[in-house]
Amino acid sequence: MTENRPATMQRIETPEQAQKFIEEQLAALKEQVGDKKVLLALSGGVDSSVVAALLIKAIGQQLVCVHVNHGLLRKGESEQVIQVFRHQMSANLIYVDASDRFLDKLAGVTDPEQKRHIIGAEFINVFAEEARKLEGIHFLAQGTIYPDILESKAGIKAHHNVGGLPADLHFELVEPLKFLYKDEVRVVGKALGLPDSMVYRQPFPGPGLGVRCLGAITRDRLEAVRESDAILREEFARNGLQGKVWQYFTIIPDFKSTGIRDGKRCFEWPVIIRAINTKDAVTATVENIPFELMEHITDRITHEVPGVNRVLYDFTPKPTATIEWE
Ligand code: XMP
Repeated sequence: MTENRPATMQRIETPEQAQKFIEEQLAALKEQVGDKKVLLALSGGVDSSVVAALLIKAIGQQLVCVHVNHGLLRKGESEQVIQVFRHQMSANLIYVDASDRFLDKLAGVTDPEQKRHIIGAEFINVFAEEARKLEGIHFLAQGTIYPDILESKAGIKAHHNVGGLPADLHFELVEPLKFLYKDEVRVVGKALGLPDSMVYRQPFPGPGLGVRCLGAITRDRLEAVRESDAILREEFARNGLQGKVWQYFTIIPDFKSTGIRDGKRCFEWPVIIRAINTKDAVTATVENIPFELMEHITDRITHEVPGVNRVLYDFTPKPTATIEWE
């Protein structure tokens, strides 16, 4: 199978072009899959969501989606996956709440690379366990997109999202988005009727909030990252910054500082806000957030998120900083 985007392929920019792509893919998927079953790891990110929506249209119940909640997702993410795919699209969706498994494995682990490794390896374990429980799966669908293929050719990263499945799990791959760029995937997702909150979702690292809860992850700090992130997203949406700022999130370091609550000394965590703009995530600039909005967000986070008494803003572009803190 060729790994190059056909030179004649037009950039998908309009709903009509998306519709044409969808029709072609539906025919190709039906042809490839026949009456066999397809498995998909559905994270709720743009790429896997668009693959799911295409396959549901093409083969309906022959698709089995597995959504693994590793306990490091943002507030409301798993609920949205269940709502959209199980309830609205009637997908065959297996929901696995593996939060405890991941958090137990991560307990006490401080090294960022080790944290990432544990999360990646445990994801494969959970997904492989679910795959083994199923009968008669022939294909594995993946949300591989064209930049993944280009980067893997250039040796930057391995492009198979669920790369490294154990040897006993042999699946043929189904990759309907493999010649699309990200912006085209979004146009197709919109044409497939996915909600804007899914189609225009910010990039979110695979290890999720695990790399934003610095050092050894604890459940209380993880909850504080999740709640402060939800407040930041809500305020950015209310104030017209959603879709304007490329990526924004909160981070909680693993130290406390002195503050005052109800007239008494308190010793609590700080929350760091990061809001950046970029084209390709290789370099990034810091967004100029209105001071009044920052004051309001600070007020909400310090009063609504238990254990947080301070809010900081990260003014550092990439380079010298990376976008994530770990
Ligand atoms: P950095 O921190 O390297 O991040 O400047 C660049 C972009 O990549 C995202 N990121 C990840 N995405 N898996 C992903 O799918 C990861 O492990 C990962 N780490 C960072 C980050 O959010 C930013 O958009």
